[in-house]
Amino acid sequence: MTTAITLCGSLRRGSYNETLRQYVSAELRSAGVSVEDLDLADYPMPIFNENLEAEATPEAAGRLAQKFAAADIVLIVSPEYNSGVTPLMVNTISWLSRQKHGQFRHAVFGIGAVSSGKYGGVVGIQHLRDSLSKLGALLAPTLLGIGPADGAFDADGIPTEDGVRRKVSQLVKELNRFSRGGS
Ligand SMILES: Cc1cc2nc3c(=O)[nH]c(=O)nc-3n(C[C@H](O)[C@H](O)[C@H](O)COP(=O)(O)O)c2cc1C
Repeated sequence: MTTAITLCGSLRRGSYNETLRQYVSAELRSAGVSVEDLDLADYPMPIFNENLEAEATPEAAGRLAQKFAAADIVLIVSPEYNSGVTPLMVNTISWLSRQKHGQFRHAVFGIGAVSSGKYGGVVGIQHLRDSLSKLGALLAPTLLGIGPADGAFDADGIPTEDGVRRKVSQLVKELNRFSRGGS
């Protein structure tokens, strides 16, 4: 069975990106994928610097790298901060990039974002894509950027716009098609 892990790049209570992550996770499950939703709060890592790294690698970095290496699909849903990547995601990727489990070279990666601005975080998504590509990741082509966040989901966390739901279906199809998992 094809496996997926999902992560959210915002730890804010009531995060819109967490809402999107849960919706895409549910769609992946409906498509027959075995999904594990990860909470980055369970993978605490200090702000990366090479002095710290020389002393010790946080245990969470190795643990998360192994999750990445084992999954057929990695879904990251993260807001954009200042047209860039959130500090949580930058720090997570910095530590992961120093691990040696082939963590970026097995899965197909899907990226999504919700932002308060009307461009839906696509600038941040692009930065995240560039960084992951540089690390050897294969990325699904769909740019799932949703904005403005206000009114983008109903009370059950379902995207209110048909176009957004179609984009999620397209992303789920791509992730399934490009993954190396058996189905
Ligand atoms: C430090 C910071 C920078 C932000 N920069 C942007 C931005 O560049 N573009 C944008 O559309 N929204 C920006 N926002 C607003 C976020 O889109 C908004 O807070 C969103 O709800 C964050 O996602 P979350 O609900 O998943 O936490 C920024 C918010 C913060 C806290």
